[in-house]
Amino acid sequence: MADNKIIDGKLVAEIMKKEIAAEVADMIDKGIGAPHLAAVIVGDDGASLTYVASKEKACHNVGMLSSVYRLNAKSTEEDVLNTINFLNNDPEIDGYIVQLPLPDHINETKVIQSISPNKDVDGFTLSNIGLMQLGEPCFSPATPFGILELLKRSKIEVAGKHVVVMGRSNIVGTPVSVMLSRKGIDATVTMCHSKTKNVEEYTRQADILIVAIGHPEFVKADMVKEGAVVVDVGIHRIKDNSEKGYHIVGDVDYDDVYPKVSKITPVPGGVGPMTIVSLLYNTLMAAKKNR
Ligand code: GUN
Repeated sequence: MADNKIIDGKLVAEIMKKEIAAEVADMIDKGIGAPHLAAVIVGDDGASLTYVASKEKACHNVGMLSSVYRLNAKSTEEDVLNTINFLNNDPEIDGYIVQLPLPDHINETKVIQSISPNKDVDGFTLSNIGLMQLGEPCFSPATPFGILELLKRSKIEVAGKHVVVMGRSNIVGTPVSVMLSRKGIDATVTMCHSKTKNVEEYTRQADILIVAIGHPEFVKADMVKEGAVVVDVGIHRIKDNSEKGYHIVGDVDYDDVYPKVSKITPVPGGVGPMTIVSLLYNTLMAAKKNR
């Protein structure tokens, strides 16, 4: 029997993928061609390679084209900027991402801000961040957009609710806080971070708790209000003695928190698939706009 406490990101992402695949098929039928997403990856960080491989697979699942530009860890900033310049000017590429983190010797801000805003499907450039803050059409960052879409499609009311966001990263905590408090979404948002004193005093007030702090199983039952909705953005590999050698956990101690909540996103199968499908959505929008 379906567990109606679980917010099924995998299922919602599958539905969105079908919608996107239908639009891609329509573009192909009309002779416009399939949208094309590229990814730049520098070095051989295992997690980054896995993420990029999932993004490629998802592209192919919906009929999109994908290309990966792999640069070795010793590449210079200039090498990376040359790749960016090439992608900005290549009419075959509708949108692309630069997988983060970059090696320490490369200035991440300089690289990201060199991406053409028209192809910035991660929504990381200054103009996209500004447009998002103004509530204007833009490429929304994938994870925040995925969270909002997941709540909407799971029929979880956000307007007027107190949403507590744990984490203030540029990729998740900050943009999701801005997007939730915009007119039309209408949540009341409290943002907590690593320097927040007595963080549990805030988290216990949350109708909806969004956790994006990068600490495995940090959130325990005593930090959550009875009946709250919990959205877990974390993903960590924990080594164990299983055949695989590891298992996956989030930022929330799922088993501890589960009895207390009304709804919760699992890890894996919650926010992760929504992030990927949001990137596909942005790529589709880019292809529609740029062609
Ligand atoms: N690294 C972790 N999350 C992300 C993301 O959403 N986009 C990119 N480009 N890199 C990441």
